[in-house]
Amino acid sequence: MQIPRLHPDTIEQVKQQADIVDVISERVVLRKRGKDYVGLCPFHDEKSPSFTVSPSKQLYYCFGCNAGGNAIKFLMEVGKQSFADVVLDLAHRYQVPVQTLAPEKRQELQRKLSLLDQLYEIVALAKGFYQHVLRQPQGEASLSYLKVKRRLSEETIQQFQLGYAPQGWDTLYRYLVEQKNQPVQLVEKAGLILPRKEGNGYYDRFRNRIMIPIHDVQGRTIGFGGRTTIDEQPKYLNSPETPLFNKGKTLFGLDKARDAISKQDKAVVVEGYFDAIALHAAGVKNAVASLGTALSLDQVRLLLRYSESKTIILNFDADAAGNKAAERAIGEIADLAYKGQVQLRVLNLPEGKDPDEFLSHATDAAQKYQELLQTSPLWIDWQMNRLVMGQNLKQGDIFQQVSQKMVELLTKIEEESQRIYYISQAAERLASGNQQLKRQLEKSFIAQFKKQNQPILKSNVKKDNSPLLPKSSDRNLLQIAESLLLIVYLHCPEYREIIIETLEEKDLIFTLPHHRFLWQQILELEPTISESNRTPNPLMSLIQQRSIEFPKEMAQVNHLFHLSEKGVEDIIRTPMVIRGAAACMEIVSYEKHRRYCLEKWQKLDPTRDLKQKEYYWQELKLADKQIKELEAFRQSNFLDIIDLT
Ligand code: UTP
Ligand code: MN
Repeated sequence: MQIPRLHPDTIEQVKQQADIVDVISERVVLRKRGKDYVGLCPFHDEKSPSFTVSPSKQLYYCFGCNAGGNAIKFLMEVGKQSFADVVLDLAHRYQVPVQTLAPEKRQELQRKLSLLDQLYEIVALAKGFYQHVLRQPQGEASLSYLKVKRRLSEETIQQFQLGYAPQGWDTLYRYLVEQKNQPVQLVEKAGLILPRKEGNGYYDRFRNRIMIPIHDVQGRTIGFGGRTTIDEQPKYLNSPETPLFNKGKTLFGLDKARDAISKQDKAVVVEGYFDAIALHAAGVKNAVASLGTALSLDQVRLLLRYSESKTIILNFDADAAGNKAAERAIGEIADLAYKGQVQLRVLNLPEGKDPDEFLSHATDAAQKYQELLQTSPLWIDWQMNRLVMGQNLKQGDIFQQVSQKMVELLTKIEEESQRIYYISQAAERLASGNQQLKRQLEKSFIAQFKKQNQPILKSNVKKDNSPLLPKSSDRNLLQIAESLLLIVYLHCPEYREIIIETLEEKDLIFTLPHHRFLWQQILELEPTISESNRTPNPLMSLIQQRSIEFPKEMAQVNHLFHLSEKGVEDIIRTPMVIRGAAACMEIVSYEKHRRYCLEKWQKLDPTRDLKQKEYYWQELKLADKQIKELEAFRQSNFLDIIDLT
């Protein structure tokens, strides 16, 4: 249909109603940063977020590729849609009445928009019908199935608006078309009836099934899942794709879970309708179901809008064979996890139970479930555990296979400090307590990364040959040492004093410009934080707010702010790291001094400046000795796993 030109009032109203964060977060995982949001830019390939959304300005801007604009522009670019199409979609979504400049076309347009409204109406009528029938004599068996077999309370049945589709071939058809005068084509479009294969007429899609209404985030009914109680195939019959219902973009129960997800800052995703229902009934109100398919990116983004820390716990069925289910289910979101964009955790219930079964087996099951949720491992840890589980690593070929798989897994981790952490984790699991073996494994993993040209901690700094800056091998070392110190400083307030002391005592400074910049911010901001500030790590949020003011500089140090929590714990636990990092910085500074002395020594004429020449020679020797000692110290702790020389 040709869309008539839209009235400027309509465009204006749409602009006012459509919230840019709301619109963009359907496509991009956004994280709050100060008063703005940031995420990975959808218009170019990037690993650390430079895409910024400002709710106060209602604009987005990417510091990486300079894409920018308002919500309408975003949708046009990302969906390759015309201006008018985008405005119409938004108008419908935000319930803005549409006016056109050509009144005679208005009716046509209204018809198009009201099609969706009519479909909502029809589906809602069907839902009411099914609920009603559940309470009739013909629904008795199903009602008792829900109450007895599934142990659902009256309250839960009401809350989820469960119903029953009767046995006959056309009861719903007659109700909707004959009694409620709904157009038959629309009832078909809503996925509720099908044309008969022979002859004319229609028959009901759902017959003799318990009906579970599926809602969109706003709570409107958009489709159904129908479960057989007599072992018919399929076990669940679902609504087909309709203009209202898109399986891959819907999560069952999200309308009821969204507030709890925000409040608890995490979402639990299960496979089955009844798993989600049982969890809600047991007080786990942040649970949604994925409708039995692999979790899609669209579904994940829907969820992530409500969790600030971007935490998702997958509780999928564990099959006896070895739990491929979770891996399959993770599907498209694996990438997000490797990039550190989502904190993905995996919960496998004991004995391969699904949540519904687990909750029914004991009276304190709900509490046990909460405990299991708390301790569920991060997805990467979960995979590592699974690689070594039940394997006899004493056998050479098995050891070889498993460590190869570990390397494959490590290769996928894009976030650098995270990879360092997992290199040591992988080595630890393979070494089963043998420290020497662990050390060798770490070295060999790193060697393999080098072969594949995968940086361990890659430098964010462009190479330049200014003589004032350290050599590039020094720079790698510095990059690592300085970022480790900054990571510890940012994430672990209890070590701040030690770091300051160490730096002062050894007279060390941050030499790389972006690190110096960050250190400067720290020194400026720290004194402004009052004792009464109760945010957990006020320095962190204050500094991150500087992104808008200093986008370029902050982009270079951005990765220091995000670290998996276990990564932080491990890197941070030991003051060894601080001493090791300080040693690295000292080495670099001694090397600089050594080069300077060497140059002087070479230039001086022994016949004239013997004394001076002698002095530089002594300094050189001294520097050599210091470097050697520091090097030995560094080698003997954690930091030798990131030896890049
Ligand atoms: P399961 O087969 O694991 O069943 O399907 P379940 O949820 O444990 O079901 P109950 O407890 O026996 O009733 C998981 C989910 O996969 C989808 C449904 O969403 C179901 O809840 N599914 C399953 C279908 O859509 N169709 C099917 O035929 C089976
Ligand atoms: Mn089940």
